[in-house]
Amino acid sequence: MYTKTQMPEAAMPLDMIIFGGAGDLAVRKLLPALYMAHLHGNLPPATRIIGVGRHAYSRDAYVDFLTQHSRPFIQATNFEPEAWTRFLQMLDYVEMDATDADGYRRLAGQSRAGVERAFYLATSPALFMTICDNLAACGMVDANSRVVLEKPLGHDLASAREINLAVGRHFAESQIYRIDHYLGKETVQNLMVLRFGNGILEPLWRAPTIQSVQITVAETVGVGSRAGFYDGTGALRDMVQNHLLQLLCIIAMEPPVSLDPDAVRDEKLKVLRSLRRMGLGDIARDTVRGQYTMGAVDGEAVKPYLEEPGVPPGSNTETFVALRTYVDTWRWANVPFFLRSGKRMQKRLSQIVIDFANPPFSIFPDAPRTRANRLVIRLQPEESIQLQIMAKQPGSGMTMLPVNLNLDLQSAFSQRRAEAYERLLIDVVRGRLTHFMRRDELEAAWSWADPILNGWRELREKPLPYTAGSWGPDASAALLGREQMSWTE
Ligand code: BG6
Repeated sequence: MYTKTQMPEAAMPLDMIIFGGAGDLAVRKLLPALYMAHLHGNLPPATRIIGVGRHAYSRDAYVDFLTQHSRPFIQATNFEPEAWTRFLQMLDYVEMDATDADGYRRLAGQSRAGVERAFYLATSPALFMTICDNLAACGMVDANSRVVLEKPLGHDLASAREINLAVGRHFAESQIYRIDHYLGKETVQNLMVLRFGNGILEPLWRAPTIQSVQITVAETVGVGSRAGFYDGTGALRDMVQNHLLQLLCIIAMEPPVSLDPDAVRDEKLKVLRSLRRMGLGDIARDTVRGQYTMGAVDGEAVKPYLEEPGVPPGSNTETFVALRTYVDTWRWANVPFFLRSGKRMQKRLSQIVIDFANPPFSIFPDAPRTRANRLVIRLQPEESIQLQIMAKQPGSGMTMLPVNLNLDLQSAFSQRRAEAYERLLIDVVRGRLTHFMRRDELEAAWSWADPILNGWRELREKPLPYTAGSWGPDASAALLGREQMSWTE
């Protein structure tokens, strides 16, 4: 129901200024998320949202553009005409080039005095420094400002450091919100509760009880119209360095002392710093790069990556990665963490699989050779937690089969689940940093990813082809197969 405002009366008015205000992310995710936040009374009174972009829109034309392009991303059940009309009244638009100092003066003229300002940089990271320098130069940055940085934050450690340094010249760390939208997903936040809100798992949550961990984020989509960005990025930078490593951190971290942003981020940082660095031999043996070829997804024929619009001929960019890594700590000594992510896979599936050790000795002569116990935490498309345990098949023999204790979180809770961007934008408005990456975390993640990227360049191997609609190249299955394991799908 449309509730107008639930923010405390004393909350300062907010100017949310979105660079890239007519771009893909703003249109598909940010504006619909801000509408939802408004609908549920989670924006401060007198909020204004100023889209900034190079396109020459008047305010009215921008409103029309969003009505045409953002509204379809709001579910019909969440659409309330009165709330939408009020939302549109909050909007404004400033046409400017991010490199043009005059534009910033016009922007400063549009923004109100005595308000909180949140600058959302939904642009190429190459512009982050220029934007921050210019905002500061025209007096728009003060103690009530915050800046939100979209990923990818750099393309390697050196560029990430450069950006962090430049942004840090104008914003204190407590004013910087580095977004990894996976941290805004309900299911990902629930992982913290699963681990630290329950007592039964903790004694088991270590080597050697846990034998291996698998993290899969598989997508059915291809690169679509994003080749311009994606071809220079690839799956390791686009998904593994951020989303998958953040999932790994939550699985592997020690219990934080509280939910304080730094308490949580300190623990995640320790995990990132403990990730085993790979040498050339490890890279050749323990990583698999793939690129999709022609195939079919959900019964529809799809193009190979090399024929997607904007992909340069003969591109070597990987659209799939699988790898094995280790967290070198007491808790995780010698436990392999298998990560994989790819586009144009058979199913959209994000899940974490925890394999537990088998009983040390079997008294059952016909025990199957599969793992007895496995915890499967499904994040997408549906949210569930399954614990596989062995049970006796009814009958006169002692045949054992794995069965699942199944917790279906969708039916356990009927409440609406906010989209990741809605939840994170509300955190920005309320100044809550726990679900954002700190500078040292980001740099530690790059320190782990850089040697892999450099190693691939040195090895000069082409990505392995895999048919669109499959689970990736055969080498991905072989990565686990050589240890008598397989991916859980
Ligand atoms: C983004 C990547 O960060 O995450 C995209 O840039 C990817 O390539 C997307 O498709 C996946 O997010 P989700 O929420 O759909 O799993």
